Amino acid sequence: MSTDTASTGADKLVPVLSRSWDDPRSYTLEGYRAHDGYQAIHRALALPPDDVIKMVKDSGLRGRGGAGFPTGLKWGFIPQGDNKPHYLVVNADESEPGTCKDIPFMMANPHELIEGVIIASYAIRANRAFIYVRGEVVHVLRRLQAAVREAYAAGYVGSNILGSGFDLDIVVHAGAGAYICGEETALLDSLEGYRGQPRLRPPFPAVAGLYASPTVVNNVESIASVPAIVRNGPDWFKSLGTEKSAGVGFFSLSGHVTRPGQYEARLGITLRELLDLAGGVRYGHRLKFWTPGGSSTPMLTDEHLDVPLDFEGVGAAGSMLGTRALQIFDETVCVVRATLRWTEFYMHESCGKCTPCREGTFWLVQVLRDLENGKGTEEDLAKLLDICDNIVGRAFCALGDGAAAPIQSSIQYFREEYLDHLRHGGCPFDPAHSTAWAPALAATGVRA
Ligand SMILES: Cc1cc2nc3c(=O)[nH]c(=O)nc-3n(C[C@H](O)[C@H](O)[C@H](O)COP(=O)(O)O)c2cc1C
Ligand code: SF4
Repeated sequence: MSTDTASTGADKLVPVLSRSWDDPRSYTLEGYRAHDGYQAIHRALALPPDDVIKMVKDSGLRGRGGAGFPTGLKWGFIPQGDNKPHYLVVNADESEPGTCKDIPFMMANPHELIEGVIIASYAIRANRAFIYVRGEVVHVLRRLQAAVREAYAAGYVGSNILGSGFDLDIVVHAGAGAYICGEETALLDSLEGYRGQPRLRPPFPAVAGLYASPTVVNNVESIASVPAIVRNGPDWFKSLGTEKSAGVGFFSLSGHVTRPGQYEARLGITLRELLDLAGGVRYGHRLKFWTPGGSSTPMLTDEHLDVPLDFEGVGAAGSMLGTRALQIFDETVCVVRATLRWTEFYMHESCGKCTPCREGTFWLVQVLRDLENGKGTEEDLAKLLDICDNIVGRAFCALGDGAAAPIQSSIQYFREEYLDHLRHGGCPFDPAHSTAWAPALAATGVRA
């Protein structure tokens, strides 16, 4: 947690979801109630469901899972009077390299997520909701399960919630640890008990989702933002952030930064401001490259310190806001090696359903491994870009596009560093090559 007001520029922090993180009992029912918890459901359950959807639409909340789709609009797609069950599914798979916001949030505030689930389910007329959690995070599963039990016992979940006539059951489901199961349709297949692979769309989940019934899939942070919107009103949320990117969000700083952690701030804050809050790049070093929203968002460099971190600003800079997972790399990191590691991840996590991604990620790794070891040729850079071109827009789901992003962007900004590997027959950042490379490294400020 990083809400320490003694930090430089702490007024830039807007703790909404993290407002109770200084309280060691924030995760309990009583701890949550002490911080306005379970106030919003009283208000929401007294309104017609469509008014709750309108409130979320008016707030300008956009999905916090990466794509930024307007949350209220998504809820409005659920057909009404169709005599089918409706489902809410919370995407808590969080597996993107660098993304690390939902897990600490669920540890600290499981009840805020549950309150959001109750309000969202009421709005879309769902009587059953699922929270799909990445299976490895057993501590989070236990905490969520305990919180759901507390919420049932307090009458917030179950039959006739607070005398409103609304019934809701919540199931906490453990996934088996596949990145692709964070893709919403693969998640639905996995939840139904099948191997998790993306589905062909249309039909979209709003029409035929879980068990072929209308389903809303939302990220943890999106759903957890709803109680505060209901409590404080849509105008309050809209007044935070920028015109088209309303509200606040977690900015997760990791890597070569003095104080890594979750910084909850208005959308539109810049990396320069966040680094000020986080004590800067680690002592004695400088920023080389960073990801704005996890490894599948094109990397940026120190030229982009003042880019507003909202959906439009990061898009205009040639990348994507994604999940605001800011991975910071200083000048000691080899960009080719970092890109290779990410690409190995995508190869491993490719579900194999479509050829461009299944074959493409395999070949990208082979070419990158050669380049990292100084064995390739300059033509291999064109080959990498050609393989990427054959993946982007041709793969069945966005995992393929994500795999291409670090490669295309690293070649765009660091082509010479790729070529340095070839000129010197190995990685210039590898200590085995550091003697031969000492003068060149010294010139770039890199420590051998
Ligand atoms: C490979 C892949 C992995 C994803 N992983 C997640 C995830 O872990 N959590 C998440 O909320 N969204 C993830 N998404 C995005 C979801 O498909 C979906 O857009 C999101 O859950 C919608 O929620 P939102 O509208 O609240 O953002 C992933 C997408 C892809 C292609
Ligand atoms: S892009 Fe990759 S992960 Fe997505 S369906 Fe194709 S093979 Fe599977």
